[in-house]
Amino acid sequence: MRIILLGAPGAGKGTQADSIKAKYPVAHISTGDMLRSNIKEGTELGRNAEVYMDAGKLVPDDVIIAMMERRLMEDDAKEGFMLDGFPRTIAQAKALDEILDKMKLKLDAVVDLVIEDDAVVGRLTSRRVCRQCGEIYNTVMKPSSKEGVCDKCGGDVVQRDDDKEDVIRKRLSVFHEQTAPLIDYYGKQGILVPVDATGEKDAVLKVLEQKKANA
Ligand code: AP5
Repeated sequence: MRIILLGAPGAGKGTQADSIKAKYPVAHISTGDMLRSNIKEGTELGRNAEVYMDAGKLVPDDVIIAMMERRLMEDDAKEGFMLDGFPRTIAQAKALDEILDKMKLKLDAVVDLVIEDDAVVGRLTSRRVCRQCGEIYNTVMKPSSKEGVCDKCGGDVVQRDDDKEDVIRKRLSVFHEQTAPLIDYYGKQGILVPVDATGEKDAVLKVLEQKKANA
């Protein structure tokens, strides 16, 4: 399986990826998680990326493309992958086409998680994440059993720096301007699969299983 999870910030890319992973053991490649782990480790890439991320802006294409090219060449990705948060611009999508051509691989589907901006703001202001294992919580829909403590690993459950309302609004405007054109880009390639992002947390898994059954 080689798919892209496309969608606004907070559409549920990470949440849907978790459901898919439980059934299909493919590499879950999240550019946001890769960047955050670079920030945590204090790498040069992390230090450069942090400024853009805290402001709700995209990290420059050349940095992201180089990082992803290296990641896609790793062994686990050759068996299949779910891309979460990449590509995010037409330049990144074109670069991905070139990387996959070189690897003689094709995408199976690009899932477009469809959601209104106001629903995103509600979700992201109440999102919490485990600093250690990355488990996603929500103070309204899915709180951790003990406030601030991860049910899975006991790590600290915190709010992401970019989940403040003003930064969320900026991320949404960047999404509409720079990422939404990908809907048309992949629509023309005939591989776009729109999915209502306000439904169940395994909605994408169900659609993929239906597609497989009909193939
Ligand atoms: P990134 O980490 O990718 O953030 P994002 O795309 O803004 O997406 P999120 O992680 O915020 O949300 P999500 O869609 O995964 O939703 P989630 O499942 O957590 O990127 C962060 C930053 O890194 C960017 O702003 C940029 O600076 C940089 N960056 C990353 N990639 C880049 C690239 N390619 N190029 C340049 N820069 C890049 O769910 C959200 C909440 O909703 C949770 O609380 C969850 O519990 C809840 N929820 C989810 N689904 C449901 C549901 N079905 N019903 C009810 N609640 C739900």
